[in-house]
Amino acid sequence: MPTAAIIGGGVIGSAWASRFLLNGWHVQFHDPAPNSEAVLNIVLDKARRWVPEVYDRLPAEGALTLCDSIADAATGAEWIQESTPERLEIKQAVLVEVQASCAAEAIVASSTSGFMPSELQAGSARPEQILVAHPYNPVYLLPIVEVVPSAAVPEETVQRAEALLRDIGMKPITLRAEIPAHVGDRLLEAVWREALWLIKDGVATTEQIDDIMTHGFGLRWAQKGLFETYRTAGGEAGMKHFLEQFGPCLQWPWTKLTDVPDLDEELIDRIVEQSDAQAAGRSVSELEDERDANLVAMLKALRKEDTAAGAFLNRLGGSGA
Ligand SMILES: NC(=O)c1ccc[n+]([C@@H]2O[C@H](COP(=O)([O-])OP(=O)(O)OC[C@H]3O[C@@H](n4cnc5c(N)ncnc54)[C@H](O)[C@@H]3O)[C@@H](O)[C@H]2O)c1
Repeated sequence: MPTAAIIGGGVIGSAWASRFLLNGWHVQFHDPAPNSEAVLNIVLDKARRWVPEVYDRLPAEGALTLCDSIADAATGAEWIQESTPERLEIKQAVLVEVQASCAAEAIVASSTSGFMPSELQAGSARPEQILVAHPYNPVYLLPIVEVVPSAAVPEETVQRAEALLRDIGMKPITLRAEIPAHVGDRLLEAVWREALWLIKDGVATTEQIDDIMTHGFGLRWAQKGLFETYRTAGGEAGMKHFLEQFGPCLQWPWTKLTDVPDLDEELIDRIVEQSDAQAAGRSVSELEDERDANLVAMLKALRKEDTAAGAFLNRLGGSGA
């Protein structure tokens, strides 16, 4: 069975470990935090509960080894997934240590939300084996992963990375160019920035903004994305009509665009207060369970309709239906 090394086991690293294990890979796991094993076990329990509901042809679970050092974790691994805090100097130092122990043909992937692979490769002994594999939370359930190589990464390595990610039930999307924050986080940041303005300007609360998403366009996005949604919004005339009708709006000041709201104490307090009220006493773990149950129900529905992520899961080879 192949082996993956997980370096950094917080929210994302633990979920990567769970995905690899549940898809039959052995996992060598390293995180220096004293509570890292407990964090991993909590995430792994959630993954064991939910993943088999939508990925229904899973192999026997791989073996987990907890490692005291990066060197121990990286030695012998085919895939190394770095998920340390989003600080370039930490990631670069970790990657140097990883490369001192891993095989030259191993793939060294980073979960970074914002850094470009060429930034991660600076100072590295073998830049050609480092790329970005950016997942979405919860990594054990959501199939998408953005693969971002730099010019230093050969095509053969990219293809091998895509094949390995498919092996653990993921849908890799390889970007055509490296940019800060890749694609998904670019889109999300634009929405996030607007939402912060709407709260700062007193237009809506966190709960109202979430309701507008969850009862409306969030449902559309989950199965039709942005462009197919707008194609249908244009009626029979489709995308051309939609662009003609709504294109001019882009010139009006509907959005604050790239202006960044000042995240001062007052705004932070307001968001935290509204978010606490919205949670109504539910813990983060309870919110995660609600999220996972909903995702599973939605993925099942999409599988039944054989559309979007459901169509992808229906056609998975080793795992999935
Ligand atoms: N949270 C998300 O939704 C999300 C989504 C996609 C990608 N990411 C990216 O994943 C990465 C990790 O994010 P996270 O949310 O899991 O953060 P996190 O703070 O939950 O976890 C980071 C972990 O790294 C460990 N760590 C710190 N120094 C280390 C070292 N030298 N060696 C090994 N482990 C070390 C910490 O103990 C911690 O457990 C970041 O690059 C982030 O941008 C996050």
